Amino acid sequence: MTKRMPVVAANWKMNGSRELVNQVLLQIKQSGVCQDIEVVISPPATLYSYFDEQKKIHELDHVFLAAQNINELDNGALTGEISVGLAKESGCQWVICGHSERRSLFKETSKVTAKKFMKALNAGLKPILCVGETTEEKETGKTFSRLTAQIEAVMHLGGKQAFKDCLIAYEPIWAVGTGQAASPELAQEIHRFIRGMIASICPETAKTVRILYGGSIKPENAAALFSQPDIDGGLIGGAGLVPEQFIKICQLA
Ligand code: 13P
Repeated sequence: MTKRMPVVAANWKMNGSRELVNQVLLQIKQSGVCQDIEVVISPPATLYSYFDEQKKIHELDHVFLAAQNINELDNGALTGEISVGLAKESGCQWVICGHSERRSLFKETSKVTAKKFMKALNAGLKPILCVGETTEEKETGKTFSRLTAQIEAVMHLGGKQAFKDCLIAYEPIWAVGTGQAASPELAQEIHRFIRGMIASICPETAKTVRILYGGSIKPENAAALFSQPDIDGGLIGGAGLVPEQFIKICQLA
């Protein structure tokens, strides 16, 4: 079986501060967690440059900075938006694409998400493609068709090359911020399905692509989720804002 390097990513959403950047980086350094895993932090855009500067000062080469979102265009009259070039210049190495909050609150379609994904990839950044179903889709048996549509949008635009250097995060919307994580068995079933989809276009990539689980991961449930064969780490929301909890989750990966 192919060994995949675990990844633990924190999505701070519209939270955090310079002080939190300092605390998290210091604790990552002191704990030594990033020697065996890749750690990714995605703070709000106003903190990208500060984070990048501080991570370099601490010599944390295995800690990566991710943008929470980019616009699908390179520039223009788009007040408040950030292009991939601006994110890259601010030190971002990865980009979260299609988070469920972008899809639901900002009406981002799978087609637009796919464009952002390809923008990131073509700029040399690693996209983290978020996919997941709503409560209603889960209850009406539409989980697999929803995930298929979200992943196929990227396949149509990028072909099989698209998945060579990316991460996929399965984040069921019913589990995000609710305290109700998917069971390890259910998450494993879905991760295996996603890996199978990638295998259908590129068997080699399916062995190496890392698929993260996200949605109410806490130190208490992380070990059981991470022990599943197709779960390669986590995308953490709330617990990523508490350095002690985040470090503990990293240690469990
Ligand atoms: P929670 O861990 O707070 O459920 O959030 C998950 C998430 O949305 C990460 O992107």
